[in-house]
Amino acid sequence: MKYLIIIAIFSFQYVSFGQSGKENYLIYCSGCHGASMKGTSSTTSLLKENWTDESSKEKLIKTIKEGVPNTKMLAWNNQLSPSDVNAIADYIIDFQENEHLKLEDPTIEYLNSSEYKLEVVEWCSEGLEVPWAIEFIDSHKALVSERNGKLKWLIDGKEDPLPIVGLPKPHIGSSTGGFMDIALDPNYDKNGWVYLAYSQTNEDNEAKDALALTKIIRGKIKDHQWQNEETLFEVSDDLKVRNGNRWGCRFLFDKEGYLFFSIGDMARAEDSQDPSKATGKVFRIYPDGSIPEDNPFINKGGALAAVYSLGNRNVQGISMHPETGEIWMTEHGPKGGDELNILKKGANYGWPVITYGVDYDGSIISEKTHQEGMEQPITYWTPSIAVCPAEFVEGELFPAWKNNLLVGALAFQEVRRIVIDQHNIVKQELLIKGKGRVRDLKFGPDGALYIVTNGPDKILRVVPVQN
Ligand code: HEC
Repeated sequence: MKYLIIIAIFSFQYVSFGQSGKENYLIYCSGCHGASMKGTSSTTSLLKENWTDESSKEKLIKTIKEGVPNTKMLAWNNQLSPSDVNAIADYIIDFQENEHLKLEDPTIEYLNSSEYKLEVVEWCSEGLEVPWAIEFIDSHKALVSERNGKLKWLIDGKEDPLPIVGLPKPHIGSSTGGFMDIALDPNYDKNGWVYLAYSQTNEDNEAKDALALTKIIRGKIKDHQWQNEETLFEVSDDLKVRNGNRWGCRFLFDKEGYLFFSIGDMARAEDSQDPSKATGKVFRIYPDGSIPEDNPFINKGGALAAVYSLGNRNVQGISMHPETGEIWMTEHGPKGGDELNILKKGANYGWPVITYGVDYDGSIISEKTHQEGMEQPITYWTPSIAVCPAEFVEGELFPAWKNNLLVGALAFQEVRRIVIDQHNIVKQELLIKGKGRVRDLKFGPDGALYIVTNGPDKILRVVPVQN
């Protein structure tokens, strides 16, 4: 009787829902061992020729259930049922013995880079509609924002069928507005705050020319219900814009816990230079929306107190250097004017007074690329790649890429690796091309790189595998 109760309790904790051995392997094991079992930078291969745990299926099952002491190979007997473990063991043995399984899987792709062989799998390939941003709660659960005004839970890359309700409605009349970036509070585990940026209007959400601007809120998600919503940043209607586009918006929490966010120029280039307007800026606030006392434009005439930098056309990627703490940001420029910058307090990045680009119709925006008092980019891309997310390499899976910056591109459908020496670009390497418009990049708790793409709407997982 006692045993039965224990089994009953444990079986409630199993997280899988009767997937096959292969599905479970891909969900729970491939992030560290590779979908092809070749091993990654942190594990050895599970293929027979390199396998130390060679002896028997029983031994394999024991290893999976009990883990490998003093390694990241945890005991799986709490998370996976005995039949799931058995099915995974069967799949591993099958894979080891059958050459065709290794060769024919169309969902796995290998790409070469100068440091690693990259294994690319479609981690989430169904159900997404223009996903914009991803945040991981833990190695199984992630939150995704979609431009059309949805937040979704993903469990092991599969959409949670229960929708999150009670969210605000974004202004979707303009093709580029909607839900944008999300962020988790640095103390999310304790307080549950989720930050969200979206295009907001007090008029008709679907009217193309409604007065609208990016609004920043936070809320908590409890039982699929968005609640406790608080407004952190919103401008009055006289600062909103009709027929705008280029809304931003990317979030970053720095080491001190300040929240940074960007708003694009909303096709009002000149206003990017005006600190009393909210367009074309980067902002800094406390997580509750209050304004840091030492913000650079505080008490300066009509300036908005949250402004941190000016002259930013459309910052779509922000990431903090893991060692220096410097904040790097990508700016989606005009034709030929995509930029990479370092964020400095009170700095003016020059848009549209100076730029390396021309307008997309070919007309000249400015003859000038330099001006006293305005920042020069670290680098710029001509032609424009339509640069979007930026993410410094984190975690242990890619040690050879330590402190490199990855950037993603929409139009060019690229992920690039940028090797940095202080403020100089030493090298740029094209890692991935043509897999969709790259909207977001994140390193997950498992150390893998996750790439959020639009058209096709997918999330790819990339791990380095051994040759
Ligand atoms: C967080 C990373 C991680 C995850 C997830 C993970 N492993 Fe491991 N695994 C390791 C490490 C590290 C080792 C020990 C070093 C090695 O042998 O590669 C290991 C060892 C093993 C071994 C022994 C290999 C040998 O050479 O003897 C087996 C078998 C194994 N893992 C199977 C699995 C299975 C099946 C899953 C999924 C249920 C899984 N692992 C999930 C990291 C992981």
